[in-house]
Amino acid sequence: MDLAKVERVYTSYAKIYDRVFGKVFHEGRQSIIQNLNAQPHEKILEVGVGTGLALPMYPRHCQIVGIDFSEGMLDQAKQRAAEHRMDHVQLHRMDAGSMEFKDDSFDTVVAAYVVTAVPDYRKVVSEMIRVCRPGGRIIMLNHFANDNKFIAAIEKVLSPITKNLGWRTDLALQTVLEGTPLHVARRQNVNPMRLWALVECVNGKNGNGKTHINGVKNGNGAATYAHINGTRLSEQASGQALG
Ligand SMILES: C[S@@+](CC[C@H](N)C(=O)[O-])C[C@H]1O[C@@H](n2cnc3c(N)ncnc32)[C@H](O)[C@@H]1O
Repeated sequence: MDLAKVERVYTSYAKIYDRVFGKVFHEGRQSIIQNLNAQPHEKILEVGVGTGLALPMYPRHCQIVGIDFSEGMLDQAKQRAAEHRMDHVQLHRMDAGSMEFKDDSFDTVVAAYVVTAVPDYRKVVSEMIRVCRPGGRIIMLNHFANDNKFIAAIEKVLSPITKNLGWRTDLALQTVLEGTPLHVARRQNVNPMRLWALVECVNGKNGNGKTHINGVKNGNGAATYAHINGTRLSEQASGQALG
């Protein structure tokens, strides 16, 4: 999946997206926002905001920025924001793998059903870490590959098919977190059959560098991080570990 395909596939869904994926995935979106306990003026970025289904649920005392690459999805989100008179919401067309925001711009970054729908999850996670302040929250809601080996094998077989529909089914949470400075603070299974996970992480990056995870650099690519068997390595050592 490349960016042209994201634009093509998701823009073709835009007008029916809410009817197909609205209710069925509502519980997950609602759980994110109900547990946010967002402070007044907290700056929240929603990556891959889609048609903006979650937007009306955020408290109005926060500043919400939503980005999406699909023009069609974003148009729906803009319409929703206008209908609900959401003056606290800004929407931009942007590639989540190469964001135009400065480092540490947000307190909280949310990605609902996005990490498995993007061309390169490593770039997107790396960018979410960069634009989120040190100690801020990064919340991912997604179906991740199952821990059960049998189900994981089925998901692997299905993934080439679902990729044509706009998402993959074979990405494990551990793979997403590997080499990042993210510390899981909370994990909750949500949605039908509890097959989706809401994962709230604390951004453990330090304040003076860029991220470089799993071989992908962003920004100026100064700092590196790695976790091996759950142990955070020093930046220098992790740089060597990651090569
Ligand atoms: C499955 S939808 C999820 C939409 C919404 N978050 C929700 O809760 O329904 C995935 C969204 O990610 C967007 N997307 C995929 N790759 C992207 C990228 N590189 N940059 C920005 N948005 C992207 C798609 O256009 C689509 O709107």
